[in-house]
Amino acid sequence: DKGEHKHFMHKEIHEQPASLARVFGSLIDLQKGRLSGDLDKVDFSGVRRVVLVACGTAYYAASVAKYWFEEFADLPVELDVASEFRYRSTPLRDDDMAIFVSQSGETADTLAAVRHVKGRVRAVLAVVNVPTSSIAREADHVLEILAGPEIGVASTKAYVGQLALLAALALKAGKDNGLVGTDAETSLAVAMAALPRLVSETLSLEPMVQQVAATMVSARDTLFLGRGVLAPLAFEAALKLKEISYIHAEGYAAGELKHGPIALIDEHVPVIVFASSGPLFEKTISNVQEVIARGARVTLITDPQGAVLAKGIGDHMLIVPAVREELAPFVHSIVAQLLAYHVAVLKGTDVDQPRNLAKSVTVE
Ligand code: M6R
Repeated sequence: DKGEHKHFMHKEIHEQPASLARVFGSLIDLQKGRLSGDLDKVDFSGVRRVVLVACGTAYYAASVAKYWFEEFADLPVELDVASEFRYRSTPLRDDDMAIFVSQSGETADTLAAVRHVKGRVRAVLAVVNVPTSSIAREADHVLEILAGPEIGVASTKAYVGQLALLAALALKAGKDNGLVGTDAETSLAVAMAALPRLVSETLSLEPMVQQVAATMVSARDTLFLGRGVLAPLAFEAALKLKEISYIHAEGYAAGELKHGPIALIDEHVPVIVFASSGPLFEKTISNVQEVIARGARVTLITDPQGAVLAKGIGDHMLIVPAVREELAPFVHSIVAQLLAYHVAVLKGTDVDQPRNLAKSVTVE
């Protein structure tokens, strides 16, 4: 039932404050400011590498998590899409922790990748939304994102749930290997627990996002840029737009622009930039200046401090709530989802059932 919403996707976007509160509630004991619950069954002590495998949007969630495992736990990460990983001769060791991310738990390539590593690594973790799924059944440990049923083919609340689970898991890894002390654990746990409220605030940007969407409907090509933890978010934003609006969209790490894609830029190519204020901000802004100099129409998505530092650069600015830099993908992803949704609605495409796509891809 879509309730008051025109599409399941819209409903699911708006469910995120609740679904996020549910998953963080299962991972964090707020009274104590500690990780808890399901994470207790996973032990990273002695683990030397994380292997992260998924497809599509789940892969982009895993791509964000790579930054977190490096940052919180100082662990090397082997990251790949399942359809490549399963056919590679990647060396696997018994001190590898293998993590598979899948909303449905039925994606054929991801399931095959699970079977490929089973018995050859320390443990197989399944980060899923469907605990009775094939991938969950074959894993050593199941971690549920608790997003509730996701009907829209374009993943939204499952993606954000995957981010939540993976952020807490990376923090657990840092704790298990002695890198994250009690104070750091509490400060991150408290910051994570505040995310449902910040996501809800971000949702109130919808009317402004709609205005930006109106400027993108007639575009043939679009570019999404981000740096650091927001680079994979830019890839996900591009995927979301292309799958439901059929507009060609590419996501790039902002620093890669000058190595080729900048050749595409002219006034007909909307450029969407995700940037949070912080050490990488200036670098991203100088990339933005490069595209503006080539006539691009830029929308900058940043936080209040970034808005001040950016001094009105670009054609549009969307200001998301301030949040710790590592956790910025949570608020930026909401804007990315709303943007794709409203462009698709304005184009009149079948938002919940886009052409050629299935909710769960059970062919290889
Ligand atoms: O069920 P899964 O998470 O394994 O699905 C993976 C992809 O097929 C899925 O994320 C797909 O990319 C979505 N349509 C993205 O919105």
